Amino acid sequence: MAFPVDRPRRLRRTEALRSLVRETTLAPDDLVWPLFVVPGARVRNPVASMPGVFQLSVDELVAEAQAAFACGVRAVILFGIPAHKDATGSSAWDEEEVVPRAIRALKAQVPGLVVMTDVCLCEYTDHGHCGVLRPPTAGGPGQDLTVDNDLTLPLLGKEAVAHARAGADVVAPSDMMDGRVAAIREALDIAGFPDVPILSYAAKFAGAFYGPFRDAAESAPREGAGIPKDRKGYQMDPANAREALREVALDVGEGADMLMVKPAVPYLDVVRMVKERFDLPVAAYHVSGEYAMIKAAAARGWIDETRVMLETMLCCRRAGADLVLTYYAKEAASALTGVRR
Ligand code: PBG
Repeated sequence: MAFPVDRPRRLRRTEALRSLVRETTLAPDDLVWPLFVVPGARVRNPVASMPGVFQLSVDELVAEAQAAFACGVRAVILFGIPAHKDATGSSAWDEEEVVPRAIRALKAQVPGLVVMTDVCLCEYTDHGHCGVLRPPTAGGPGQDLTVDNDLTLPLLGKEAVAHARAGADVVAPSDMMDGRVAAIREALDIAGFPDVPILSYAAKFAGAFYGPFRDAAESAPREGAGIPKDRKGYQMDPANAREALREVALDVGEGADMLMVKPAVPYLDVVRMVKERFDLPVAAYHVSGEYAMIKAAAARGWIDETRVMLETMLCCRRAGADLVLTYYAKEAASALTGVRR
């Protein structure tokens, strides 16, 4: 050879060499498994747009969590579909509702499992918005109702306290109201839960990737006169990354313990920016629409599902996510450990 060639391929020659120089790892304990809990017993309702995902009654949910734990999954996050919905989402702080009951059952029967809960009102309000509605104070007549930020804050605080009382290890507000991390921190501290951490959905984008989740959680905004038809008035514009950093900085200042970016793959630039600028643990939420896309291609035989989902999680980690919330958690853990459940 007349000219020198740099040869990075030398370190790719064998799997042993490749694994020696591998920069990023993916392990079951990096994953958080989202679960949907419904009233009743022996209930397993399949979610059509999320193959492999079910709405589960508490008994079934405990069995699933045990199976995932045996595969190495160390954390779940719970979403509740309550028996009763109303304008303010009052079931959200009812300690006999499905989420507090599921927390108590999990803490009793899968003691090593970290139980996180989603704190939001959209699953509990009859209109499907993440906060309470009121007439707008700006913009004149003919406007839609608006989600009242400051009326919603104490309700989120009550919901977080109900979850903490039931034994939640982590509460995760996903509503995107301004000031909610501070409100929840104060409510938890006053109620005697200074040690319950807050995983803030700090940069949550309003977009098209949450559709299947809203089927699973029965939380799509209801159609009706005056009801805002989407969440763009509180979730972030997908076009904005600098604003995401501002959202994150606010949550850090209010006392968040962990930061989440959501969705994951289309927003990995944001994950990386958050990781570089803040020193708190960063989570990426691989959301329902992202899951459904992989499932749909796999169902047609167009991709190798196991390899694609593991690569997806690994790349979330490479971008800077310390933890990844994914509907694939049990399957990924099983593939990584070889334990089958
Ligand atoms: C509740 C909430 C949503 C998700 C998590 N928490 C839905 C939404 O904002 O409409 C989405 C998760 C997913 O799509 O997997 N606010």
